[in-house]
Amino acid sequence: SRKYRPFTPVALADRQWPNRTITQAPIWMSTDLRDGNQALFEPMNAERKLRLFRTLCDIGFKEIEVAFPSASQTDFDFVRRLIDEALIPDDVTIEVLSHAREPLLRRTVEALLGARSAIVHIVNATSPLFRELVLGMSRTEVLAMAVDAVQLVKQMTAEQPQTQWRLQYSLETFTATEPDFAIEVCDAVSAAWGATPDNKIILNLPSSVETAMPNIYADQIEWMHSHIARRDSVILSVHPHNDRGTAVASAELALMAGAERVEGCLFGNGERTGNVDLVTLALNLYTQGVAPGLDFSDINAVVRNFEACTGLSVPPRQPYAGELVFTAFSGSHQDAIKKGFAARQPGSIWNVPYLPFDPADVGRGYDAVIRINSQSGKGGIAHLLESHYGGEIGAEQLWRLFAETYLDAAKPWRYLDHQLFEHAQGQGIQLQI
Ligand code: KIV
Ligand code: ZN
Repeated sequence: SRKYRPFTPVALADRQWPNRTITQAPIWMSTDLRDGNQALFEPMNAERKLRLFRTLCDIGFKEIEVAFPSASQTDFDFVRRLIDEALIPDDVTIEVLSHAREPLLRRTVEALLGARSAIVHIVNATSPLFRELVLGMSRTEVLAMAVDAVQLVKQMTAEQPQTQWRLQYSLETFTATEPDFAIEVCDAVSAAWGATPDNKIILNLPSSVETAMPNIYADQIEWMHSHIARRDSVILSVHPHNDRGTAVASAELALMAGAERVEGCLFGNGERTGNVDLVTLALNLYTQGVAPGLDFSDINAVVRNFEACTGLSVPPRQPYAGELVFTAFSGSHQDAIKKGFAARQPGSIWNVPYLPFDPADVGRGYDAVIRINSQSGKGGIAHLLESHYGGEIGAEQLWRLFAETYLDAAKPWRYLDHQLFEHAQGQGIQLQI
């Protein structure tokens, strides 16, 4: 069942500082199977893609970009398989990417034939560098290419009324595009699609390469939000990349600046330094008391599936998901945590020092919270032993164990845990391990 335990956020429970914050979750779009996949050493085969697709559906994504079907036969076949084998849950809409060129758009719509609902995602670059260097086109030509592409998709999709079609238009390199031109393109493609409040167009404003501070991106989004014509007929979407390491902050500020949809990947997979990490973004909302609408209540399962499908590994300090993110080794931290656990009352708000929220909320246990290494203290040792022992360990015995256990500071925690248990048992402390 997709449900978090009741949760009272500590950070905001008793706010005194003036602040603004995000009060509701955005529309999420996972591009794990497109932006994430295209950036892997070895892109996923169909079985892995399918396994990750199912993981994304289980997490609760309702919009999933599954492929770039005009770019490869493998991608085309994958989209066909999802549709032909009826593998798409009723409440999930698949999305596919295409450049704004006629043959590619025709192939894209062909890939989607028979889908219950689909988003055609057209992209073209709009910044001066890309116009001049890559496309060799003027502003007028780029604008015409965009409008022609939208009109063609509108016409092709009108011939396939059994599918519920939606359109997304992305201004690749948006953040390096002149504001007046960005507005001109957005307004022209909205008009070409005939966007209305009942048939909104998704306008996606990527930081295709993140080169500016998060507040600058947010300023750009805010400006677009307040200058786009027919704002009520537009879903304003962001697609932050992480070249400066600030994609999560960029997405958060962009949401506060008027965006209502975010595209990204699990654990920040994606081109170069990746797309924005949707796990961190969602759980950041969660720990602020905002229901994210995505279920990470078994984070270990998400990590396992992600690693098996992509061949990447989730680092030990990855927010919310890494092996060490709920672990304290140092003596003073362990002492504070031990006091926090001892003071807990059933039903009370989570208030354990150094642990920003209850690890159980993401399906993690408490056994990894206190581990020992050469920096640990007696508090940690006592906690570790007592959690495997019925009563308290006496002070004198603790001192002896403390002295004995740290003979070799170079040993890793797993070894020290083991050594500690052996010494304790040698002193007649019967542990349940
Ligand atoms: O980063 C980017 O600009 C993209 C577009 C296709 C949206 O991935
Ligand atoms: Zn991208």
